[in-house]
Amino acid sequence: MCGIVGYVGNRPVVDLLIQGLRHLEYRGYDSAGVAFFRDGIIEIEKSEGRLVHVEKLLAESSKVFQGSKCGIGHTRWATHGKPTTQNAHPHRTGHVVLVHNGIIENYQEVRKQILERGHRPLSETDSELFGFLVLEEMNRGLGLRESVRKSFLKIRGSCTMVVMSEKEPGVVVGVRNGTPLVAANDPLGGGVFASDAQGLLHVSKNVVFLEHGDLAEISEKGLEVFDLKTGKTIQRNATLLDWSVEQLDKQGHAHYMLKEIYEQPSSLMDTLNALVERSNGIPFSLAHQPAVKLIENARDIHIVACGTSWHAALLAKYWMEKWARIPVNVELASEFRYRDPVVGKSSIIIGLAQSGETADTLAVIRKARAAGIPTVGITNIRGSTISREADAVLYMAAGPEVGVAATKTFTAQLMTLLVLTGHLAVKNSQAHPDDQVQGIQKLFEQVIQMPHLLADYLEAGKLAKDTKKAARALKDSRGFFFIGRGFSFPIALEGALKLKEIAYIHAEGYAGGELKHGPIAMIDQEMTVVVLAPLDIWREKTVSNLEEVKARGARILGIGDASDLVLQSLCDHWIALPPGLDKIDSSLFPLALTPVVQLLSYEIALLKGTDVDKPRNLAKSVTVE
Ligand code: F6R
Repeated sequence: MCGIVGYVGNRPVVDLLIQGLRHLEYRGYDSAGVAFFRDGIIEIEKSEGRLVHVEKLLAESSKVFQGSKCGIGHTRWATHGKPTTQNAHPHRTGHVVLVHNGIIENYQEVRKQILERGHRPLSETDSELFGFLVLEEMNRGLGLRESVRKSFLKIRGSCTMVVMSEKEPGVVVGVRNGTPLVAANDPLGGGVFASDAQGLLHVSKNVVFLEHGDLAEISEKGLEVFDLKTGKTIQRNATLLDWSVEQLDKQGHAHYMLKEIYEQPSSLMDTLNALVERSNGIPFSLAHQPAVKLIENARDIHIVACGTSWHAALLAKYWMEKWARIPVNVELASEFRYRDPVVGKSSIIIGLAQSGETADTLAVIRKARAAGIPTVGITNIRGSTISREADAVLYMAAGPEVGVAATKTFTAQLMTLLVLTGHLAVKNSQAHPDDQVQGIQKLFEQVIQMPHLLADYLEAGKLAKDTKKAARALKDSRGFFFIGRGFSFPIALEGALKLKEIAYIHAEGYAGGELKHGPIAMIDQEMTVVVLAPLDIWREKTVSNLEEVKARGARILGIGDASDLVLQSLCDHWIALPPGLDKIDSSLFPLALTPVVQLLSYEIALLKGTDVDKPRNLAKSVTVE
């Protein structure tokens, strides 16, 4: 977690760092800071809390001056040491100033040695210790780059360091070792570092995704990359990204989350277009992707993921087993990595992670690869660690997602898994009866229609009105259950997670059939049950569950087909799904249910006054276990 930016060049560095950090704040936001050269001295401005505090300090400070062209910045998600100003980055050790992301695992040992050598760290962080190591090397006469390299070889752990020194103005050195770091040449001269591409798009779209074990330096000469172990120069190519800076702005929406909910029709279409070859007339044609070949050849599929991604994976199991008749195991990466699952060389392990950086998911990929089991990563981020470490990768095309709560990346994951399902179903179609083959063709046509249907649904404004109304009526409930069956069950889990994470209200998602096995004991007049009951084969059963909780006093918010007046009459509050959904295959209903539960959580969070885009204690990219 944590966001890093570093720059040397011809642009005013403080503005540039702040702009980069704003786009990286989703990675951590408990404290922030910047460091920049002023007349040969490095000035630091940092604060606990959000980046705006640093901006305020800078506005009031006499330290800033427009001539500064070299600096580093950081936004923190605390691991070692509380989120105080003292522990905020950048850290200064003599003439060395650094920012860090990740964990120094041999921190205790390094700290002991540093204390023994008479140094006195000021913060509780592991990060600051690295500064002493660099300082010692520089005092022995080495240059900054070589000092960082040698120091890095003394620490263990997955981390990124970006360092500068008053002894070498105009140079910033970065190391990528596990946690991400990208870099670019500034077309106006110089270079830039950032934790991910979002942090440097305002400088360049030609991004170098540094590799694990890369040491890099930016200076007025631009970007140079070296091998961390040997110090020898290495060549890294840049990738031209199709993301734009405009995508990183709120574009008139009150929050990124709201903007990203409304972007779902286009991100679904973009993902579909990025994955599927539509000109050959074959439904779900995903030809020529190495990842697809690996999946096609597998006898059984294991999808590992965390949080929202795990919900997407769960739905994929329902889809793949129904349509492609392949056994699919879906598991939390944090569990899978530490047990002894039955997998072999004929299995495939798919790591599903929008960020491509999640520590547990990555650990599964690494372990599988070491055992010779084929792996595929599915992610939204080009150059992310999963995309490089898995044997092959499938990219969704959700575009940048800034809100910490996953919204459009969730539905883009669903689209990716859906087209993968369709592709495998077509491939196995010899084994299917004719009506199933026709069903796959029809499903494909409807998948193409879905983004349009959703765009109409969102733009009509009725959904926004209905979710606001329901939120006002239900916001003070003691707790929420979201219930659904079949394809709606993973969306019930997702609805509950969204409400917990952004509105801080206790919420649980259940398969309707599970209520009687314990959770129904919680039901009384202060509880709201959100019933996901579209017109599918599970509707009758879900309605029975609705009756059971209603009889025990729960307030009912029903989400169902626009034509389902019977269901509507059973509910205290009601949100209709898009008109025309009854003509679509029920496999696709989750794509319509999702924006409803997302908007409901958003509206309740607004009423609760929480920080929707940056919920407490969370970070978008969970790079520590
Ligand atoms: C919830 C959310 C998280 C992530 C989880 C996994 O809104 O965003 O639950 O889904 O941390 O992240 P990725 O998909 O990057 O592995």
